[in-house]
Amino acid sequence: MNNDTFLELLEKRCSCRRFSARDIDEETVKKLLLAADGAPVGSNLNEDIRITVVRDRAVLDELTLAMKRRREDKEDLKRITEKLRDGTAAPQKGFDPFYGAPVVIFVSHRRQNLQPGIEFSNVMSVAMMMHLEATALGLGSVFMWGSLEAMRMYPEYDRSEVLELPPDFQPLLGLAVGYPDNTPEKRSLDPEKFKVNFL
Ligand SMILES: Cc1cc2nc3c(=O)[nH]c(=O)nc-3n(C[C@H](O)[C@H](O)[C@H](O)COP(=O)(O)O)c2cc1C
Repeated sequence: MNNDTFLELLEKRCSCRRFSARDIDEETVKKLLLAADGAPVGSNLNEDIRITVVRDRAVLDELTLAMKRRREDKEDLKRITEKLRDGTAAPQKGFDPFYGAPVVIFVSHRRQNLQPGIEFSNVMSVAMMMHLEATALGLGSVFMWGSLEAMRMYPEYDRSEVLELPPDFQPLLGLAVGYPDNTPEKRSLDPEKFKVNFL
């Protein structure tokens, strides 16, 4: 792949929050998981990472409870939605933090002290590979942090046991994946998006 091709892929990358009813087949899920295998992992903590592919709506509903509680805090809701690039997380009928995606892939990490904090980078590394592969396959996807954070904010609504993780594992990031309901606009990459210092 030449560099232009990769940048072209990034022009198509976006957070998708509107999915069609079309399901994703197993072969496609396998491709996403293969991409995950390409992720670099700090200190090679591969055994400290667990990927969970969820299609079961009942499981997702359990993981929605804390987010529903969180949305009762209007200030918090405003804070987390007003900065979204396309505003598509605006009020939906029958709130669903997973936006009705047919598949949500969770990346969990074992609590560890070898390299404190590296778990957040590790799960992003893995999830990003799947987000990019999803883009390459013409799928839509969006990271899922808010609903998992809500379970940490409201432990009484924490239903992470439905993910059947080994002891000491915490779900830290998800990726909702499906076919987009619309044709996402191509973005122009903006060299001034981040301030850069050259020393
Ligand atoms: C670490 C991380 C967590 C995110 N969590 C959520 C989330 O819980 N829900 C959501 O709708 N979008 C989530 N997003 C998507 C961001 O809102 C999105 O990347 C941002 O609005 C920019 O839009 P773009 O991805 O289309 O460029 C997350 C993105 C990142 C990088």
